[in-house]
Amino acid sequence: MTTETQQEADGAGAQSSSDTLTVTDNRTGKHYEVPIEDGTIRATELRKIKTHEDDFGLMTYDPAYMATASCRSEITFIDGEQGVLEYRGYPIEQLAEQSSFLEVAYLLVHGELPDRKQLDEWTHEITIHTFVHENIKEFMQGFRYDAHPMGMLLASVGALSTFYPEATAIKDEEVRYIQIIRLIAKMPTLAAFSFRHNQGKPYVYPDNDLSYPGNFLSMIYKMTELKYEPDPRLEHALDVLFILHADHEQNCSTSAVRSVGSSQVDPYSAVAAGVAALYGPLHGGANEAVLRMLQRIETTDNIPDFIEGVKRGDEKLMGFGHRVYKNFDPRAKIIKQAVEEVFEVTGKNPLLDIATELEKIALEDDYFIERKLYPNVDFYSGLIYEALGMPVEMFPVLFAIGRTAGWIAQWLEMIDDSEQKIARPRQIYTGQRGLEYVPIEKR
Ligand code: CMC
Repeated sequence: MTTETQQEADGAGAQSSSDTLTVTDNRTGKHYEVPIEDGTIRATELRKIKTHEDDFGLMTYDPAYMATASCRSEITFIDGEQGVLEYRGYPIEQLAEQSSFLEVAYLLVHGELPDRKQLDEWTHEITIHTFVHENIKEFMQGFRYDAHPMGMLLASVGALSTFYPEATAIKDEEVRYIQIIRLIAKMPTLAAFSFRHNQGKPYVYPDNDLSYPGNFLSMIYKMTELKYEPDPRLEHALDVLFILHADHEQNCSTSAVRSVGSSQVDPYSAVAAGVAALYGPLHGGANEAVLRMLQRIETTDNIPDFIEGVKRGDEKLMGFGHRVYKNFDPRAKIIKQAVEEVFEVTGKNPLLDIATELEKIALEDDYFIERKLYPNVDFYSGLIYEALGMPVEMFPVLFAIGRTAGWIAQWLEMIDDSEQKIARPRQIYTGQRGLEYVPIEKR
């Protein structure tokens, strides 16, 4: 950043390049030229704007990071206006239609699609690491009988770090590679054990003959049969759901993984932070809210009244609107097709009629059109999960299985990014200063 005094700037010869931002500090009359790169300015450049030599310099105030890029990333691209979502440059529609979750996980982690041999090896590695140590099982059995499965997942993924203490060697490529494999492989096992615990059913060990989603279904549903045979349509729908949830750039949980990971903690602990963030209703819980809303509407006859209430501001139409997507959420279109596939197997859920009618009416209504409110990924995902026999507590758990691939890819990118340091935001202190301590008997 270059600086010049007001007088100099007013004089002849003051130049500014087109890729810069000229700032005038009216406190001092000084001009500053800040480089603009990729549509951003570096916040640290603002630190050079000072009123006097000892001044800390200017900061930005951006609660919730509404206009702050925290990293450079090559993983996921989103264009909210155009409804575009790409992983490593590949459109989500093509991946959902032609790829598999494990291939997408490889793509996110490695940056490119695998060839046949690479995919086979990757799949093999993940398949042979699905089992967890028996102590993990015992540890999980210690939870209260009705423990929330997301709380169990959060604790058990964090506990994995104590089983693999070598995982702290995060700069060792070989060591961290095996942790990546373990995380992707064991997440469905921990998720299914949490589910079975909550249901009071015995835990089912992984079946390594099955596909990634097929094995998960087996660990969820298997009872007395010797071998569980997953319905290929359910297997496929679940695989698509995992793909759709695999990454979504710098959302709350991914930022949590990066932020906690920036302390150079092991990846299990960093991913546990992601699970914790996803546990919150504003992140992993919207599909549950959609389901409850549809149940409350009860019949299609009640839709007009419900819509009027939404327009009056009484409540929100859950599963509509998005902070980033202002045209349509590309994941919602794909998920709608998956709904049909699942209902072919499970039989139609009457809530689907309400959802379809609600969507039709809302999309034709000026209130929603003017505000660019379209169905988001959560509008239909809850219906699928319910059709799969999942209680609402499992919804964020399923989300976490898919998102693990993205968390890991983002964690890896952060570890290898020489510009990243431990995350440490600044604050604007608004409290008191220099008070005199008063002994308790005198207060
Ligand atoms: N129903 C009715 N009105 C809405 C809705 C909705 N779902 N969403 C936004 N609006 C209205 C809002 O009241 C405001 O109206 P006005 O201009 O008259 O005050 C206008 O639309 C703009 O809304 P906003 O709150 O500024 O939009 P935002 O970008 O801050 O919020 C959102 C985005 C997703 C939080 C919000 O649309 C919402 O609460 N939707 C329902 C919950 C939901 O489905 N969440 C899941 C999001 S997808 C999760 C993911 O990507 O993982």
